[in-house]
Amino acid sequence: MSEPLVLGIESTCDETGVGLVRGTQLLVDRTATSMDEYARYGGIIPEIASRAHLESFLPTLDAALDEAGVTLADVDAIAVAAGPGLVGSLTVGICAAKALASSLGKPLYGVNHVIGHLAVDKLADGPLPEHFIGLVVSGGHSNILEIRNIATDVVELGGTLDDAAGEAFDKVGRLLDLPYPGGPYVDRLSQQGDREAIRFPRGLAAGKDKERHKYDFSFSGLKTAVARYIEGATARGEVVSKENVCAAFSEAVNDSLTAKAVRAALDTGCDTIVVGGGFSANSRLRALLTERAETAGVQVRMPPLRFCTDNGAQIAAIGSELVAAGLPPSDWDFSPDSGLELTTTYLAPRA
Ligand code: KG4
Ligand code: ZN
Repeated sequence: MSEPLVLGIESTCDETGVGLVRGTQLLVDRTATSMDEYARYGGIIPEIASRAHLESFLPTLDAALDEAGVTLADVDAIAVAAGPGLVGSLTVGICAAKALASSLGKPLYGVNHVIGHLAVDKLADGPLPEHFIGLVVSGGHSNILEIRNIATDVVELGGTLDDAAGEAFDKVGRLLDLPYPGGPYVDRLSQQGDREAIRFPRGLAAGKDKERHKYDFSFSGLKTAVARYIEGATARGEVVSKENVCAAFSEAVNDSLTAKAVRAALDTGCDTIVVGGGFSANSRLRALLTERAETAGVQVRMPPLRFCTDNGAQIAAIGSELVAAGLPPSDWDFSPDSGLELTTTYLAPRA
């Protein structure tokens, strides 16, 4: 018998995603986004995002089913992102998923979309290792997770104490008058700059912090150091090389992310690091992590870029792991959880 067909629904932020997954096979991944509407505000407006989900959901679902050549009756289970994310956006996807699941009589799983950022890698690189380190890097998260079992057992080793990596990049983009979101622009400029030109601080890398916050990050001091550098150079009448600032800043962020992820793998005896989230598009992260992991004898799995930003396939991917593990569906009355803990893979039913 073939593996169950799982429909995944994602609406945590600005992307409305619908994906269909069977085991490690992706049938379709359709996404609509309202990101274009936020450039003039310099940030996402939750009310606009929620309305956009309402408008996009049914057309995205129809297009996905058409492309995959399946009907809703063929679906064995439905997974929907229950958090973390924007509560209004999550509500739209969850209401849609509950309506579909109850009218079709299918089991419904309210899942953790951050764990989905790691689970999606199986669609590109095959079945996930049993025990691995997950490095989740996005606009909202920078976390190191020890995945002992992707369906049932996730340990949070560390995370950012302030800004996420993507958020820090966006803030530096703003300091340099780059368009929103600044991350990809800072990345592009950094490739033309000299990483050694300026030495920016690495957060939590020295003294007591180094041991106490072994797997944690802090990027807000770094962002302030960049702001001071720009102010100082401007006051002295110097021309600021945006390329050098971006290259040195990117080096500081990625030095921390990669050193701590590799250390976590060595400390826990994991031979694989899986990277997920929109920031994994960053060119220096990819290069430095590959280099350092190789030196340490650790394998790196990075999903292709189309799987790194929020999408329905990642929700279907974690959903199919839950179904395969034989776990019971969520209760019908679950609510969105904007601050869902990363150790909660899905909203399990009350006993
Ligand atoms: O995962 P994601 O799509 O959104 C969240 O769910 O949070 O991540 C988006 C974040 C934004 O902060 C964006 O600026 C950043 O990832 N980002 C990048 C790059 N591409 C996207 N940051 C640095 N370099 C990139 N190439
Ligand atoms: Zn995400």
